[in-house]
Amino acid sequence: MRNKITQLLADIPHLTAKNKEEVEALRVQLLGKRGSITMLFDDFKQAPAEEKRELGQLLNQLKVKAAEQINRLREQVEIQSEAAASIDTSMPGQAAPLGTRHPLSIVRNEIIDIFKHLGYTVAEGPEVEDDYHVFGALNFPPEHPARDMQDTFFVTTDENPILLRTHTSSVQVRAMETQEPPVRIICPGRVFRNEAISARAHCIFHQVEGLYIDENVSFADLKQSILYFSREMFGAEAQIRLRPSYFPFTEPSAEVDVSCNICKGKGCNICKYTGWLEIMGAGMVDPNVLEASGIDSQKYTGFAFGMGIERIAMLKWQVKDLRHYFENDVRFLNQFKTAM
Ligand code: PHE
Repeated sequence: MRNKITQLLADIPHLTAKNKEEVEALRVQLLGKRGSITMLFDDFKQAPAEEKRELGQLLNQLKVKAAEQINRLREQVEIQSEAAASIDTSMPGQAAPLGTRHPLSIVRNEIIDIFKHLGYTVAEGPEVEDDYHVFGALNFPPEHPARDMQDTFFVTTDENPILLRTHTSSVQVRAMETQEPPVRIICPGRVFRNEAISARAHCIFHQVEGLYIDENVSFADLKQSILYFSREMFGAEAQIRLRPSYFPFTEPSAEVDVSCNICKGKGCNICKYTGWLEIMGAGMVDPNVLEASGIDSQKYTGFAFGMGIERIAMLKWQVKDLRHYFENDVRFLNQFKTAM
């Protein structure tokens, strides 16, 4: 009898039931009129007097434990069946809301696609750069005032300071150092300039710069490539004009305007009534820049260009405040759902 009790005591915590009926079957099996525990109480009457005290305690313990376990199982199957009843598997699912691509990503991808058709591949480089790759190798002599054209965030101030790149031309330097011409790359990426944040300027923005180096690359090739890009981006009617400009790394240099696609040249407040919109800087790579990266400037020539993605996006969608691109307000972002 003692063995039976201890065996049952050990078994009880392991009892399980899948539903109400199984719980009830367990109850009958243990505590019912002819249940095994009930029967033990009958046996108990015949037990020797000297063992009765101890056996009685064990038996009561067993009865309490069994009742507790059965109650626990009953609660468990009730919770489970309630949960199952509240799931209607015939209901249609809830669609997860679809996000949108960021407008700057949409424009960046579009620019990349256009230049891919001209044989360009994408090159990337570090956002935290050294002075040499951002300025030195690009023909900015030390102390040259042209460095002030791009207000720089410095990380260190040693001889070759570490800084946040102010343009992705640094990626072009890295490509020239490692690749043999022909080089035909575009460099999309984030750039940083120490400027006060306003509707028209931000300390972080995005660029796509391009570089093409080969034998006999001419200014005419540059013009034609930019015209092709402009027509793909702004429509087949787009015209371009080049104004002389200055960059330390290109000679000659130009500022490129595209005909205003908003007023079609008639004059509006986006083009400030000129009919033209400035979209990029460009020029023939200065021989000093080629030589600094070990490219023979007698044999090779090249052109480079660089544009701000925010600026192109602004012209495409007439978003007049740059800050919208950085605030990630879904009411703004959702408007680009169909533009992907
Ligand atoms: N790196 C220049 C800038 O950020 C743009 C540029 C690139 C101009 C290539 C000419 C040639 O302003």
